[in-house]
Amino acid sequence: MSAPYALHGNIAVITLDNPPVNGLGHALRTAIVNGINAAQDDAAVGAIVLIGAGKAFSGGADIREFNTPKALAEPALNTVLRTVESSTRPVIAAIHTVAMGGGLELALSCHYRVAVPGAQIALPEVKLGLLPGAGGTQRLPRVVGLETALNMIVSGAPVMSEKLAKTQLFDQMIDGDLLQGAIAFAQKVVAEKQPLKLVRNLKIDHPNPEGFLKFALNTVMTVAKNYPAPPACVEALQAAVTLPFEQGLAKERELFLKLVQTPESRALRHAFFAERAASKIPDVPDDTPLRAIKKAAVIGAGTMGGGIAMNFANAGIPVTMVEMKQDALEKGLGIVTKNYESTAKKGRLTPEKMQQRLALIKGSMNYADIADADIVIEAVFEDMGVKEQVFKKLDETMKPGAILASNTSTLDVDQIASFTKRPQDVIGTHFFSPANVMKLLEIVRGKATAKDALATTMKLSKTIKKTGVVSGVCDGFIGNRMLEQYLRQAMFLVEEGALPWDVDRAMEKFGMAMGPFRMSDMAGLDVGWYIRKRRYAEKPNMVYSRWVDRICEMGRYGQKTGAGVYRYEAGKRDAIPDPAIADLVVNYSKETGVTRRKVGDDEIVHRCVYALVNEGAKILEEGIAMRASDIDLVYLTGYGFPLYRGGPMQYADQQGLVNVVAAMRRFAKNPHGDQQFWEPAPLLAKLAAEGKTFNG
Ligand SMILES: NC(=O)c1ccc[n+]([C@@H]2O[C@H](COP(=O)([O-])OP(=O)(O)OC[C@H]3O[C@@H](n4cnc5c(N)ncnc54)[C@H](O)[C@@H]3O)[C@@H](O)[C@H]2O)c1
Repeated sequence: MSAPYALHGNIAVITLDNPPVNGLGHALRTAIVNGINAAQDDAAVGAIVLIGAGKAFSGGADIREFNTPKALAEPALNTVLRTVESSTRPVIAAIHTVAMGGGLELALSCHYRVAVPGAQIALPEVKLGLLPGAGGTQRLPRVVGLETALNMIVSGAPVMSEKLAKTQLFDQMIDGDLLQGAIAFAQKVVAEKQPLKLVRNLKIDHPNPEGFLKFALNTVMTVAKNYPAPPACVEALQAAVTLPFEQGLAKERELFLKLVQTPESRALRHAFFAERAASKIPDVPDDTPLRAIKKAAVIGAGTMGGGIAMNFANAGIPVTMVEMKQDALEKGLGIVTKNYESTAKKGRLTPEKMQQRLALIKGSMNYADIADADIVIEAVFEDMGVKEQVFKKLDETMKPGAILASNTSTLDVDQIASFTKRPQDVIGTHFFSPANVMKLLEIVRGKATAKDALATTMKLSKTIKKTGVVSGVCDGFIGNRMLEQYLRQAMFLVEEGALPWDVDRAMEKFGMAMGPFRMSDMAGLDVGWYIRKRRYAEKPNMVYSRWVDRICEMGRYGQKTGAGVYRYEAGKRDAIPDPAIADLVVNYSKETGVTRRKVGDDEIVHRCVYALVNEGAKILEEGIAMRASDIDLVYLTGYGFPLYRGGPMQYADQQGLVNVVAAMRRFAKNPHGDQQFWEPAPLLAKLAAEGKTFNG
C-alpha cells in the first residue's frame, strides 16, 4: 500500500492506493497529507490531482482499523480534510467507481471535482446507525441541494455520478481516461488562474429550508421508529441551513459522538462485522482450493425443495429436482412457476428473466439425470429411514467429488454421512422457509466434512445470496436448539398467567418480527408437537407446559387449518385472539394447580430472550457455534430478531452479563417452570464474573 506521488508536468498526482477500496486507513491518510505538503513545497507544482487506484476513488473508512487506535490516530480524517482545504494549490478529486462515506467527504473538501459516469456516490453511515462525521452533512447540501442531500444521507443509498452531473458536486464529467482528463482539467485551472473554491463558502439554495426539514423530520421519525440515526441526520442538515459553517460542523460532530454511543448503532455495527466474520473458519484457510459448482440438483420438490431450486436458478446455476412420483414433481414445478409469476406480476422480475430462470430448473424422476451435478441438496421427508435410502442412492450415483448436502432440520448429519462411503463430501445445508426468501443458511459441519467441501458451501451461500453461518452437529443446530428454550418459556408464561397474545404483543414490542405463538401458528403447530413428543420420551426430566399440545389434539395446527393458538378467517392471515383458547389456558392452569398471576412485559421479554442467551452460551461453549456473533447473525437473519438490538448475545452484552445472571437467579426461584434451566451456563457465569462480554 502506498499513495505514490508523481509529477505530470506542473500537476502533482496523488494516487490513493489501499486495496480493495482505498479505505482511508492511517497509512493512506498520512500519505495524502505528505503528498499535499510535498506539492506545496515544490514551486513547479500548479495543481494537485487526487485519484484512486484500482476499484474505487475511496470507499471511506478502512473497516480493518475500526475499534483500533489507528482509526483515530493523527492525521485523522478531519486533519486530512483541513490540509486539503488549506492547500495553496488547487486540489482536484478525480472520481471513478466508488466515492463513499469518508471518501466522498474527502472529495467534498477538494477545490474541484471531476468524475466519470457510473461512479457510485454515497454517504452510507446511516446504515451503521451513524451520520457522516467529517462534514458530509454540511457540505453535500451545499453542492447537490437540500432535498437530494437529505435523501442520500437519510437512506445511505448510492446515486450514480451521471445523475449528479448537473450539480455543483462535479465541475466536469470526463468521458474516457480519467487521469488524463483530470490532468487536463487541472492544467486549465492553473492556466486560467481559477480560484481556490471551497464548498463551505457556498450557500444552500432552497426556498424554505426550515419548513422542508421540519416536514422531513416528521416523516423520518415515523419511518425510522427504533433508529435514532435518521432523525439525527435531519438535525445535522438543520444545522447546515441555520448555522455558520464551523458551528454546523461542531453540531455534526456532537450528533455523531452521541450516535456512536447508542445501543442501536453498536448493534448495527455489530451486525455488519458479524456478517463479515461468519465466513472466516479458523481451521479452514482463506485460500483453500474450492470445488467448482456449475450444476446443482435437489432431491424432493416439496415446500423446501422448490425454494432451494429457485436459489440456484436465481444465481444462474442450472438445477434439476428429483421426485419419487410424477404428480409430486409436477406440483413442485407448478409452485415454482407460480412463485416466479407472482414476482413478475409485482414488477420485480422481467418476463425475460423469469423465462431464463424457469429454463434453468428441470424435473426428473431419475437419479441418473443428476449424476454429474456438482452439488445435490436433499430435501425429502424428515425421517432417518428415508434419508438413508436417498443417501445410499446418491452415493451410488453421484460423480466423485460432488457435495452431498442435507436440508434436515433435526437429524444427525454424521449419521446421514455414515450411509455413504464418502462422509467427507457430506454436509448439512439448513435453509429456512420460504427458502427462496429467507437469508439464513446454517451450514452444518459434520465430523468428517472435508475442509474444501465446507469452504465451497460457504462460498456457495454467497453466490446464492444467503448469509451462511457454520454450525456443528447437534439437535436443532444453532437456531432451533435455542428456539426450543425460547418457546418453552413462552409456554410457561402462559401457564403462569399471561395470555398467548400478551406474550406475542410484548415480544413484538421488543422488536421481534413475530411473537412466538403467531410464529408457531405460521410454521404449523404440528411441527413443534412432533418434536415435543420425541422429547417427552427422550428427556423425561425436561419440564414442558403442555397446553399447546391440547390445541394440537383439537386438530388446530395453525394457519394451515384455519385455527391454532389464534383463529383465522378464511383466506386471511390475521391472527385473531380466540376466547376458546383463553378458556383452555385458564383451565389448564387450574388443572396443573398454578394460581394465575399478572405477568409483566419485562418478565415476558427477559425470560424469552435470556432463554435464548443461556442456550446460546452452551452452544458457544460446546463449539457448536464458532463465535457469539454467529449466533446473533442466525437470529437476525433467520428468526426476526430486531436488527437494532444486534441479536440475543449482543443484547445480553448490552444489558450487562452480571444483570443477565442476576435475572436468571431470580427466575430460578419461580416455583413453576424449569428451575434447573436457569442455572447460568458456565461460560455465561464466568464471563459475568470477569466483567466480560460474549462479543468481546
Ligand atoms: N418446511 C420447513 O419449514 C423446513 C425448514 C427447514 C428444513 N426443513 C427440512 O427440509 C426437508 C423437507 O421438508 P419439506 O417441508 O420440504 O417437506 P415436504 O413434505 O414439503 O417435501 C418433501 C418432498 O420430498 C419428496 N420425497 C420423499 N421421499 C423422496 C425420495 N426418496 N426421493 C425423492 N423425493 C422424495 C416428497 O414427495 C415431497 O414432495 C426436511 O428434512 C425438513 O426437516 C423443512
